[in-house]
Amino acid sequence: MNVFVLTGAGISAESGLGTFRDRGGMWSRFDPARLATPEAFARTPEAVHAFYNLRRRGVREASPNAAHAALADLERGLAARGGGLFLCTQNVDDLHERGGARAVTHMHGELLRARCTACGAGRPWAEDLAVATPCPDCGRRGGMRPDVVWFGERPLHLAAIEAALLSADLFVAIGTSGAVYPAAGFAAQARAAGIRTHEINLAPSDTADAFDAATYGPATRAVPDFAADLLARTG
Ligand code: APR
Repeated sequence: MNVFVLTGAGISAESGLGTFRDRGGMWSRFDPARLATPEAFARTPEAVHAFYNLRRRGVREASPNAAHAALADLERGLAARGGGLFLCTQNVDDLHERGGARAVTHMHGELLRARCTACGAGRPWAEDLAVATPCPDCGRRGGMRPDVVWFGERPLHLAAIEAALLSADLFVAIGTSGAVYPAAGFAAQARAAGIRTHEINLAPSDTADAFDAATYGPATRAVPDFAADLLARTG
């Protein structure tokens, strides 16, 4: 069995990393137009660096939770049965990797990577960034940015994501509000292709009616139960 799993901020919520659109969420406290767009970075780079430095430190201090570990178990279990898991995340944290997942597709980039806008070189990056940070490759200052996808920028790996989605037997969305496209359209796309869809979330998402089935509850409980049940049923 081939399973496509899409995760969102909700899977990292119980690791202490905030979500975006829940009550008190990140976008109710910070304005994404002023902190998460290329225009914002051009206009006030230090404010954008300060915002992402705070988030990067939060990711470093966070630990993966039982939901991340359960998806790593599912990845191994499906492979052992001749199938596979395509784990696509909207999250920019590394909790899936630290939770044991071997193949993770980050469609919104990775907070623990940085990229130089002058020479294009990208690399793992766990420290703070500033305007004065020189690019380790070309030496220029002022161009280093978090290697994440900002609003108005094109998500990453879309061709591979689309191919994996349409070759899946089951599509599962975990901890995402269904507010941001193209990810929010994956469930409807899967259903139109005759692929079963399942939503795991704290509460029905904006795209809940695109799902054949749903499990509502905290990810650290719902995801391990779902993964164990799926592996038991695929024998
Ligand atoms: N367990 C399961 N689901 C949870 C939990 C939890 N413990 N806590 C919150 N949720 C659910 C919320 O109910 C909500 O539906 O997770 C979802 C989080 O939604 P958002 O905050 O909108 O996050 P996400 O869907 O990942 O946002 C998508 O928007 O701002 C951009 O780039 C950003 O990748 C992000 C994208």
